[in-house]
Amino acid sequence: MTTNEQSRTQWLGRWGFVLAATGSAVGLGNIWKFPYMTGEYGGGAFVLVYLVCILSVGVPVMMTEIALGRRGRGSPIDAIRRVVTESGRTSAWSLLGWMAMACGFMILCFYVVVAGWSFAYLWKMLSGGLAGSSVDDMAAIFGANNANPFSLGAWSTLVTVATMVIVGKGVQGGIEKSVGWMMPGMVVMLLIMIAYGMFSGGFGDALHFLFAFNAASLSSEGMLAAMGHAFFTLSLASGAILTYGSYLPRHASIGRTTLTVAVADTLVALMAGLAIFPVIFANGMEPNSGPGLIFMSLPLAFQAMPLGTLFGILFFIMLSMAALTSSISMVEATVSWLTDNKGISRRAASWGTGIVLWLVSTLAMLSFNIGADWTLAGKHFFDWLDFLTSRLMMPLGGLGMVLLGGFVLNSSVMRDELNLAPTVYALWLFMVRYVSPLGILLIFVDALEIANVDFASQWPVLLLVLAVITVIGELASPRLRQSLVAKS
Ligand code: TRP
Repeated sequence: MTTNEQSRTQWLGRWGFVLAATGSAVGLGNIWKFPYMTGEYGGGAFVLVYLVCILSVGVPVMMTEIALGRRGRGSPIDAIRRVVTESGRTSAWSLLGWMAMACGFMILCFYVVVAGWSFAYLWKMLSGGLAGSSVDDMAAIFGANNANPFSLGAWSTLVTVATMVIVGKGVQGGIEKSVGWMMPGMVVMLLIMIAYGMFSGGFGDALHFLFAFNAASLSSEGMLAAMGHAFFTLSLASGAILTYGSYLPRHASIGRTTLTVAVADTLVALMAGLAIFPVIFANGMEPNSGPGLIFMSLPLAFQAMPLGTLFGILFFIMLSMAALTSSISMVEATVSWLTDNKGISRRAASWGTGIVLWLVSTLAMLSFNIGADWTLAGKHFFDWLDFLTSRLMMPLGGLGMVLLGGFVLNSSVMRDELNLAPTVYALWLFMVRYVSPLGILLIFVDALEIANVDFASQWPVLLLVLAVITVIGELASPRLRQSLVAKS
C-alpha cells in the first residue's frame, strides 16, 4: 500500500479531480441524450425521476468507486485486486475491474463516432453546409453525412487522435491541463446560449416543459431509462471514475467531491435543456424528435433565428469539447493499466490503445453505411456496443461495486476511506446495500425482458420489497460476514 501511495501520480491542483471527473460526466449524455430523452419521456416528470436516480443510485455508486480507486491506487483491475486482498477476500473480484475497463473502452468505440458527428456539424456550420428549409432537408443532410464512410471515418479518426494525444501527455500535463480550460470554456458558452434562449421567445415554454410536473406522463419505460441514464451520465462502472479516484489525494473528502460532480453534471444537463428547447419552441417545433433533436431540429431552428449561425457554431464547439473531456476518461483506465503492468511508457500505451480503438470504432462507424446490413439479432455493431454496455455491463458493474463496498470488504475499509459523519455513513450503507442493488435489478429485468412490470404504478410494491430485503439483509449480514472471515 505505502509504496503505491508514494509512487502514484496525483492531481496537481485542488480542483484537478473535480474538473476531470466533471469533464468525464458532462458529455454527449448531457447535451445530446438528456434533452431528447426528456423530450421523449414527457418533460418534468422524467426530470424528477432522473434526479431521484442520481441521488439514490448514482451518488452512492460514485462514492464507492472513488473510494476503491483511492484505496487501491491503481487501474480498476489492480486497485480492486489490492483492496479485496487487503480484506482477505478472493482476488476473483478483479474480474469486476476487467469488465469495467472493457466497458469504458467499448463505450468509447461508439462514442467517438457520435463525437465525430459533432465535429462534422461544427464544420458544416462554419462552411454553410447546413442550408435546408425543412426537417426532411435536415434528415437528408444527416443521412448524407453518415453515408460516406471516408468522411465519417475521418471525423471519428480526428476524435480518436485528439483523445490519445491528450491522454498520452499524462494525468497532469494532458488530462488535468485540458479540462482546466475546456470545462470553464464550455460552461461560459452554455451560459451565453441560455442568455440567447431567453430572448428567443421560447424560454417560458422551455421552462414549463422541463420543470412542470405532470404525473400522467410518467411511464415505466421512462423511469428505467432515467435509471440507466444516471449510470451513463456519471460515467459509472466503466473504469473512468475509479481510475481518476486513484489519483485523488488522501486529504480530499470523497463525499463532498462526489456531490460537487453530481450537482455540476445535473446542472449542465438542465442548462443544455434551457439552451436547446427555447430555440426549438420559438420555431414552433416539437420537443420529441428523438436522437435527431440536436442534429436536425436544432440546426434548422438556428437558421431561422437572428445570429443563428453564430450560435450554432458556438453550440457545436461546446458539444465537441464536452465530448472530448469525456472520451479521455474512458480510455484512461486502459492506458493506466498498460503503463503499470506492461513496462511501457504512457505515450506508447496511448498509441497502442489508440490503434485498437481506431480499428474497432471504424467497424462501429461502418454500421451507418456499408455495414448497415451486418446485423446480429436485428442490431448492427454500433447498437450492440451501446446495448451491451448501457444495458448489461454498466448495471452489472455497478452492482458489483456496491456489493463489494457494502458487504464484501471489511467494513473499516470504506468507513476509513469515506470518513463520513456516522449518520451520513449509515445512509450511504443503506443506499449501497439495498437501494442501489434493487434499482439496478430493475434495469436488468427490463433489459433482459424478464417481466413486463409497470413500475410507475407499482412503486408501493417496490417500497415493500425494499423494506423486506433491508430487514433480511441486516439480520443476515453480520453472520454472513463472520462466516466469510472465519474461512479466510
Ligand atoms: N458521462 C459521459 C456523458 O454523459 C459519457 C462517459 C464518459 C462515460 N466516460 C464514461 C460513459 C465512462 C460511461 C463510462 O456523455
